[in-house]
Amino acid sequence: MKDTAAVILAAGRGTRMKSEIPKVLHPILGKPMIEYVIDTAKEVGVGDIIVVAGFGKELLKDALKGTKVVIQKELLGSGDAMNAVRPALGRFGGDVLVMCGDAPLLERDTLKNLIKRHRASQASATVLTANVNNPTGYGRIVKDSRGFVAKIVEELEADITQKCISEINTGTYCFKAKELFGALDEIKPDNKKKEYFLTDAIAVLHKRGKRVEAVAVEDADTAIGINSRRDLAEATKILKEKILNSLMDSGVTIIDPSTTLISPDVRIARDTVIYPNTIIERGVDIGGYCRIGPFARIRSGVRLDDMVEIGNFVELVRTRVGSRTKIKHHAYLGDAAVGADVNIGAGTITANFDGKKKNKTIIEDGAAIGVGSILIAPVEVGAGSTVGAGCVVPKGRNIPRGATVVGVPARILKKVHS
Ligand code: UD1
Ligand code: CA
Repeated sequence: MKDTAAVILAAGRGTRMKSEIPKVLHPILGKPMIEYVIDTAKEVGVGDIIVVAGFGKELLKDALKGTKVVIQKELLGSGDAMNAVRPALGRFGGDVLVMCGDAPLLERDTLKNLIKRHRASQASATVLTANVNNPTGYGRIVKDSRGFVAKIVEELEADITQKCISEINTGTYCFKAKELFGALDEIKPDNKKKEYFLTDAIAVLHKRGKRVEAVAVEDADTAIGINSRRDLAEATKILKEKILNSLMDSGVTIIDPSTTLISPDVRIARDTVIYPNTIIERGVDIGGYCRIGPFARIRSGVRLDDMVEIGNFVELVRTRVGSRTKIKHHAYLGDAAVGADVNIGAGTITANFDGKKKNKTIIEDGAAIGVGSILIAPVEVGAGSTVGAGCVVPKGRNIPRGATVVGVPARILKKVHS
């Protein structure tokens, strides 16, 4: 697929979002919309990936370090956005896969199939379409008598009959690069929005006697374009269900999927049980036979070994927890490394932030932290030691192995090893 370049259109203002942030940077389950699109393009294995930025371009460039970004100077429509990539593609003679930064749910196999079909048919362009119950807002696919795509009519331009067409343009296409740019030279902003529509290139190609094919996506839900906050919520719902289903299929129990939020890129091993009202953020890694929740919030950078128990109202961030450790009620652990077989009492808090930077707390194997303790980082709690209830352990006052400490500030009551 290296002879296919992907262009991701993301310059649009996203007016319907009512936002000062570029639409494509709005996150879905903690991951910016456009990152889904870029990741899928990478999974497809295309050559170059080029993002077209415009509205909020600086924010977008900052968020997409390592990705090629070209700027559309004036937001004159999706057709004009494609023209902005011309210099970057140079004399490229392969295929261009055009994607929209606001269609994050499209799947790798759908795109692979689109490219495969495009090549097999030798078409000048192949449009990824979807058959939907409610086509409102999308461009409608108008076909000729032979079943080829004759044109795409935008919602605002469609007449009553066209509005009844339920096959819509997903905004994803495969073009022969040279033919696309040839056709773009002919499009005009002669529509209600006064924009250069990329979709008008389809009609130009058809008029030139070129072949334009439609390939329908199997699952229309994966093709939705996010234009409003409502669409964002809808996409979150669809993606969330997909993530939870795939975890359940792999052997994880999720007691109440309707109140469980798990981000993408979370790994959970078999026989772990997730209780209701639990939130697990991006990149978290959870072992097998764990019990998580109810009402737990596991944030990014957390890694739990097997058989860990995390109970209600526990928040963890950037923290590692060893096997069989229990953190069962009302606790906050940030930037901590907790060993195996540790018991963290109710209400334990690691004070990881000193106002300037985050500091580490180390709790070694077999330690017991009494209820209501505050561990002020950086601090280390030795293996097998005990921190009494209500203790405040000041920063740097490391607790030796096997010791027992009590009080505010913590003092050693009993020292087993020195
Ligand atoms: C577009 C399609 C429509 C399709 C729908 C699928 C056009 C004219 N229409 O409509 O047929 O059904 O997507 O979701 O393309 N963009 C730019 N620069 C611009 C304008 C837009 O880069 O000047 C980008 C946007 O960031 C977006 C994409 O192009 O990623 C589509 O623009 P958008 O305004 O969302 O078009 P729709 O009205 O949704
Ligand atoms: Ca859109």
